[in-house]
Amino acid sequence: MASLDKTVWSAPRLLVALLLGVLRVNGLEVSTGKVSTVEAMNGSTVLILCTYNSCIGIRDLFFTWHFNGTVKLCEGRIPKEGVEPKVKVEHKRVEFVGSTKSKNISILLWNITFDDDGEYTCFAKNPKEKGRNHSAIFTLKVVNEMQEVDNTLTTIIVSVLGGVIGLAIIAMVIKALVVHFLLKGDEKNKECLVNASGNDNTENGLTGAKADNKGTPKA
Ligand SMILES: *[C@@H]1O[C@H](CO)[C@@H](O)[C@H](O)[C@H]1NC(C)=O
Ligand SMILES: *[C@@H]1O[C@H](CO)[C@@H](O)[C@H](O)[C@H]1NC(C)=O
Ligand SMILES: *[C@@H]1O[C@H](CO)[C@@H](O)[C@H](O)[C@H]1NC(C)=O
Ligand SMILES: *[C@@H]1O[C@H](CO)[C@@H](O)[C@H](O)[C@H]1NC(C)=O
Ligand SMILES: *[C@@H]1O[C@H](CO)[C@@H](O)[C@H](O)[C@H]1NC(C)=O
Repeated sequence: MASLDKTVWSAPRLLVALLLGVLRVNGLEVSTGKVSTVEAMNGSTVLILCTYNSCIGIRDLFFTWHFNGTVKLCEGRIPKEGVEPKVKVEHKRVEFVGSTKSKNISILLWNITFDDDGEYTCFAKNPKEKGRNHSAIFTLKVVNEMQEVDNTLTTIIVSVLGGVIGLAIIAMVIKALVVHFLLKGDEKNKECLVNASGNDNTENGLTGAKADNKGTPKA
């Protein structure tokens, strides 16, 4: 589903991006990437991605990360291009992993809990642009491990059910075949019994002929 959404939206997004690009050629842009909503299991560690781009270059770029619009996670300043930022992290499970080389101001959020579910805003301001603000939102959905187990369980149940149904069908087919052959066999057996009682081994050829004669009128 997610990949479908991506493909459906990529064309309009591209168009919007192109239009914005045409309208403000020199602007700083921050982006949380193509997939800005991520589902992660509680207890895992997530990369909360944000990148920036500026055609006119940066000087004293100021950036922050906020959770749900209010809790500040970290802030930093990039003096100029090619210089790694000075970062102040204000959350004990946040680690700054960005790099100026890749215009990357991403953070890692370690050992997430359900309280981490929410919106992460990446904000940036490039004084070169006279105080214009830019931000992008990354949505984190924390899911329980159990959900995956549930899915596996469902899969198992479905496949077991499928297997049972399949087995039932196979059993029915086998039963039909067995009944078919048993009946045939019974007929043969009867014939054999009759033949055995009525004929000697020496007359086997005759017996076959008799059987054929019996068979032909039926068919
Ligand atoms: C995730 O949450 C569930 C339910 O609250 C808990 O049982 C489980 O231990 C948690 N997993 C981790 C890795 O913290
Ligand atoms: C994340 O959890 C692991 C295991 O519980 C622990 O060793 C580690 O220090 C934690 N990391 C942070 C940043 O809290
Ligand atoms: C940003 O940095 C992180 C951590 O180094 C890395 O995993 C991620 O791929 C980078 N993203 C981009 C778009 O450069
Ligand atoms: C953050 O916001 C989300 C909805 O966007 C909400 O479900 C969650 O409870 C909020 N978390 C905190 C700690 O305020
Ligand atoms: C930009 O953000 C700052 C907070 O960092 C705020 O004080 C200011 O009013 C914002 N400016 C605009 C034009 O939105």
